[in-house]
Amino acid sequence: MGFKLNIKLGVATSATQIEGGNLDSSWNDWYAKGKIKDNSNPSRANDHYNLWKDDIKLMKSMGIEVYRFGIEWARIEPKEGVIDKEAIEHYRSLITEIKSNGILPLLTIHHFTNPMWFEKKGGFKNKDNIEIFLNYVKICVENFGDLISEYLTINEPNVYATHAYFYGLWPPGEKSFFSTINVYSVMAVCHIKAYELIHRMRKEMGYKDTKVSFANHMRVFAPVNPKNLIHKSSTKLTEWLFQSLMNSAYYKGEFKFPLKNFEDVKKGDYCDFVALNYYSRSTIKYIGDGTLKGAPVNDLGWEIYPNGLVECAQELYDICKKPIYVTENGTCDLNDSFRSLYIYDHLKAICESSLPFERYYHWCFCDNFEWIEGEEAKFGLVSVDYDTQKRRIKKSGEFYSKVIENGGVTDSIYDEYVKGEKYHN
Ligand code: BGC
Repeated sequence: MGFKLNIKLGVATSATQIEGGNLDSSWNDWYAKGKIKDNSNPSRANDHYNLWKDDIKLMKSMGIEVYRFGIEWARIEPKEGVIDKEAIEHYRSLITEIKSNGILPLLTIHHFTNPMWFEKKGGFKNKDNIEIFLNYVKICVENFGDLISEYLTINEPNVYATHAYFYGLWPPGEKSFFSTINVYSVMAVCHIKAYELIHRMRKEMGYKDTKVSFANHMRVFAPVNPKNLIHKSSTKLTEWLFQSLMNSAYYKGEFKFPLKNFEDVKKGDYCDFVALNYYSRSTIKYIGDGTLKGAPVNDLGWEIYPNGLVECAQELYDICKKPIYVTENGTCDLNDSFRSLYIYDHLKAICESSLPFERYYHWCFCDNFEWIEGEEAKFGLVSVDYDTQKRRIKKSGEFYSKVIENGGVTDSIYDEYVKGEKYHN
């Protein structure tokens, strides 16, 4: 039942989801417009902006080896061209604290949230804003480049573009295929140019160990009925629109129709490691998303399909032969009754694969502000009482800690934490 693991294990978070603070940002605005299901306010979240020292201490006590975290653009550049020195100092202290606790930081530059001034200019829909984003990247490297060698430029461009511009569920709430394609395209150029910029700037600073990628949300897509031609072709179309189309642009600079190469970027290799965010498999009848009847699901109804992690990693490795970091994997489990089993199954799939997995960042370190689901969805290894901001390591957090300590799952860890758990459907 047990297995050994030869990868570094850690956790992931994003700025908006844990920091709190009343910012002039797209998600604070979205809350003000009444769009969060449980009406929870991102300005509360986990108050990590004040409690960061305690949180890093807690991570250290859990044995966390690597930590993926985000910084908030609306804090760093609250008005276009105006840099908030205090915010910079805050993040420098945070990074220093992470490192002095022996934890290796991986920094996400953009994770779903824009300052309102950028949003009002059309955000990533507008190709004229590419320079503005790159200027923000420059600010980041100028101020954190001496402390950080590993970067993710953008988190999940496909999820961002479809939720914000196709389904209209996230700010700015548009429902337009053309805008979605524009966002895909603009973000691809932003990623590629940021990739080049970070490398160039760090090189000028004298560093040789820079690593840059983007966090890519991948799913397995399967037809509801594999014999039904419509289901099959809808599956292919969805997969192409959501994944294949963008993968060639982001990794290779190959912009296939209908994507647009706004700044004539050259074909090349634009990732130093594959950063895979994996959660679930979607089954398709027409365009959209579904879950296979009877399949194990989490508390948001997402299918639990551990082998999909390896299937997606393989797909990306075929495009980009670089080490694989699982930069997000986790589940919404309100009672923490199957999270250990979920982690076990996904780590086991990694362990049994021959692909070059090097890191696994569990999503999430703690329960947090889960976008339009608000505070109701629970993805954390650590629970948070939002009124008192008290943290408590869950049973799954204890399990994960033991896995790190033992370099894998021993039979007795399995018996204590995993054996009694089961998924529901
Ligand atoms: C996002 C996270 C989010 C998680 C769970 C990922 O798509 O990057 O911000 O919390 O999924 O929904």
